[in-house]
Amino acid sequence: MSTTALFDLRSDTVTQPTDAMRAAMAAAPVGDDVYGEDPSVRALEERVAELVGKEAALFVPSGTQANQIALLCHTTRGDEVIVGEGAHCAFYESGAAGALAGVQLVCAGRGGLFTAEDAEALIKPTDDHCPQTRLIAIENTHNRAGGRVFPQQDVLAIAALARRRGLALHLDGARLWNAAVASGTSEATLSEAFDTVSVCFSKGLGAPVGSALCGPAPLIRRARRWRKMLGGGMRQAGIVAAGALYALEHHRARLPLDHAAARSIATALADVPGVTVLPVETNIVLIDVPGVPAARVVAAAREHGVLIGAFGPERVRAVTHMGLDPAALPGVTRALQRALGAAR
Ligand SMILES: Cc1ncc(COP(=O)(O)O)c(C=O)c1O
Repeated sequence: MSTTALFDLRSDTVTQPTDAMRAAMAAAPVGDDVYGEDPSVRALEERVAELVGKEAALFVPSGTQANQIALLCHTTRGDEVIVGEGAHCAFYESGAAGALAGVQLVCAGRGGLFTAEDAEALIKPTDDHCPQTRLIAIENTHNRAGGRVFPQQDVLAIAALARRRGLALHLDGARLWNAAVASGTSEATLSEAFDTVSVCFSKGLGAPVGSALCGPAPLIRRARRWRKMLGGGMRQAGIVAAGALYALEHHRARLPLDHAAARSIATALADVPGVTVLPVETNIVLIDVPGVPAARVVAAAREHGVLIGAFGPERVRAVTHMGLDPAALPGVTRALQRALGAAR
């Protein structure tokens, strides 16, 4: 089977820019953004800051860089940061938190979500022996938890704890858009309790490149310097920023389609014997096949024309996105049913 015949559900990052997005990118006015002279980058930064209710925003090449700049802004070497289990900044950023910011990460709770009590239990005493707890970072939606929405009452309790104990609070909102749709709560409300928020344009929104770090203007000024130091200062970046701005304005409204597609896949697979599908809240479907190596499930799915990813020894992940034509969904679902049956 040729690669083009495969439906790619490995991630929501695999999308192609639409013709309209490409046209917006081609028409974008640009300047040298390292000099702060790119009007398209500026327009994107202003719009995203407004959307998440922060004073300022900085366009950066990736979600990883946005998170790492947040760590660099909030901490000093030797500090400790509380995160949820499987947090992107702990699991998928190549050890950057230790290598670049020089901080150590401790995981609160189980499975990615955690409570204020879980976090409080990890705050270190003020003592020369101990690292200084400086920051709590929450991921919403949480990728390794299967795209779960972080409960807002827990966010508010954790924010109250952070204020009480003098800690900063960062939101990894790579999929904040999905959390907003699933919870029926605006991005600004979901972001309100946080000092900084990172968001991605290249996941559910379908832009080819880019993320932003949002927060108070003085912190974003410092973030700009860290971005330069990390090699993230981009010149005529308005070409990609225009794609991100297009995605922001035109693709948030269609996210319910991705969530509905994920629910359809989950419902169809729940009937396959020996398979456990985790509850679906947004666009990520986690499938456990006890006793079957994930690589075998991935290979079987590929044989049946669908690309999915291994997500644990016996767990696979399928992610819905705007590249999945709703008309193709029944075929994709049947292929996955057959593949899971064959892999067992
Ligand atoms: C929750 C979360 N945060 C951050 C990132 C990093 O984004 P990037 O791949 O642009 O570095 C990802 C990527 O998938 C993610 O899922």
